[in-house]
Amino acid sequence: MRYAVLSDIHGNLEALQAVIQACRQQRVEAFLCVGDTVGYGANPQECLEILRGLKAISVAGNHDWAVSGKLDFSYFTEDGQAAVLWTRNKIAFEQFNYLNSLELVYKNEDVILAHGSLDQPAQFNYLEDLPQAQEAFPLMDRGICFVGHTHVPRIFIQRGEKSYFTQILEMELSADDKYIVNVGSVGQPRDGNSLASYGIYDTGMAMIDIKRVPYDIPTAQRKILEAGLPEHLAERLALGR
Ligand SMILES: [Fe+2]
Repeated sequence: MRYAVLSDIHGNLEALQAVIQACRQQRVEAFLCVGDTVGYGANPQECLEILRGLKAISVAGNHDWAVSGKLDFSYFTEDGQAAVLWTRNKIAFEQFNYLNSLELVYKNEDVILAHGSLDQPAQFNYLEDLPQAQEAFPLMDRGICFVGHTHVPRIFIQRGEKSYFTQILEMELSADDKYIVNVGSVGQPRDGNSLASYGIYDTGMAMIDIKRVPYDIPTAQRKILEAGLPEHLAERLALGR
């Protein structure tokens, strides 16, 4: 199976469209989403519709559950809180139900998905360093777990007794090792690179490849400003931070 793995789309329609177009050229057979389809960007409804059209399998992100009313979001940044309240007024009732129905963890025969970490997924902790990955590795009953949330692409590897992480984002996978993969963010990258980020996971070739694609940032920014969302949410798209 050749999967596209998307995460943290955050209502950025221009970025999502660019990523899907790139995926089409790569013979993707199924779409996986690691959460946070809504929040921050100006097109949450459209992004949810597109994922539904693709029959993407998704887990819940903290923004998804905050919008649906399932998560107390008083700890979000001011911009994050404003985006949750704005998004609630934009999406249809059935989309509330969809967001509300998303589970914290998904598993099939190939993969595990969890937005923050497999370790206490309801806490939506950031998995950004090795000690946090080491908490999650023992909980994995598959070779690969995709996470999101940090908006920074990174691959954590457990090989025998050793574990480490790498910024090398294209690699062959070994059946003996475990991998926690953050494919970065489609709609709001935070690694200093403003290009939309996504992953290709090919089980037949045992390959992971995290890719970047340009998109129409000025249009996404203009829509955020016209919507009355916080200006910083527009500015940061160009910075990739
Ligand atoms: Fe996010």
